[in-house]
Amino acid sequence: MTAKKRILSGMRPTGRLHLGNLHGALDNWIQLQEQYECFFFVADWHALTTDYASPGQIRQNTWDMVLDWLAAGLDPEKSTLFVQSDVKEHAELYLLLGMITPLAWLERNPTYKDQQQQLEVKDLSTYGFLGYPVLQAADIIIYRANGVPVGKDQLPHVELTREISRRFNFMYEKEVFPVPDPLLTDVPVLPGLDGRKMSKSYGNCIYITEAEGTIQEKILKMMTDPARVRRRDAGDPEKCPVFDYHKLYSSQDEIEHVADGCRTAGIGCVDCKKILIGNILTRLAPLREKRLHLESNPEKVKEAIRKGNERASKEVRTTMEEVRAAVGLGHSMFQP
Ligand code: TRP
Ligand code: SF4
Repeated sequence: MTAKKRILSGMRPTGRLHLGNLHGALDNWIQLQEQYECFFFVADWHALTTDYASPGQIRQNTWDMVLDWLAAGLDPEKSTLFVQSDVKEHAELYLLLGMITPLAWLERNPTYKDQQQQLEVKDLSTYGFLGYPVLQAADIIIYRANGVPVGKDQLPHVELTREISRRFNFMYEKEVFPVPDPLLTDVPVLPGLDGRKMSKSYGNCIYITEAEGTIQEKILKMMTDPARVRRRDAGDPEKCPVFDYHKLYSSQDEIEHVADGCRTAGIGCVDCKKILIGNILTRLAPLREKRLHLESNPEKVKEAIRKGNERASKEVRTTMEEVRAAVGLGHSMFQP
């Protein structure tokens, strides 16, 4: 039997997850854990690179995100689930990788400039923010991961990780690290309630463990094809974000029924949305129940993550011994 391929990915702690997170990343992780040896972690140090001036939410967001992970089906028996800042070796490797990473590689990183412009209110001309991808490289190679499931926006970071990994092996003349492959999760962007990309900062999200009444209300208010002003106006489902949701949550028959009804004005938007609401609520009910269960059993959650942290720590201990030896700073000469 060949060893299972090792998969690793991280998420910055953004708090409760929304449907965009579920379909964009989490569902994919949940699938992967059936086949691979998986490591998934909360990138709380990465959150600090942008939120260093107001880090107050990071702990609560970490808790909320972990609960949603478990509620959605990440299984601590199958995957190693842990918190980045609980495994200090990430920081040590980050420091060592910093020594060999040319500044030019970081300065030409497209997300560096993009983010600086997008998050204008925050001062991101910091050393920590420039080093974001070096920390990410450390996260990945410290577990000697083979595959990194990420969205398109993260591809430059995985590419940089590959270059840093090769450079380390070359510099210290030892194949310490494998060169990881990105596993592109190619899912269409889920529109939010207003038709733009679903994002916390737009306030257009449906959360995966939200109350049923709230989900229903939100969908009833959701944007539709603007051509359907009156009930008798025909519409085009391809111009309607509600239809994007039907494609994810409804049966083939229902999809055909609403598409046809929309084009012929045979059904109204409320009828169309009611079918969707039923399907979304059915899909999310078990997640919400699981979340409530976890909220009343916080010890269970802590135990799961504590175990994950331990497994992760054990794993990095061996890697770091090899790394220190490779750079010539192995076992301290002053220790017995
Ligand atoms: N930068 C990633 C994001 O914003 C999060 C992340 C941090 C990550 N370390 C990682 C993803 C390692 C994959 C592997 O989504
Ligand atoms: Fe959108 Fe459905 Fe209304 Fe068509 S009928 S515009 S798909 S909500």
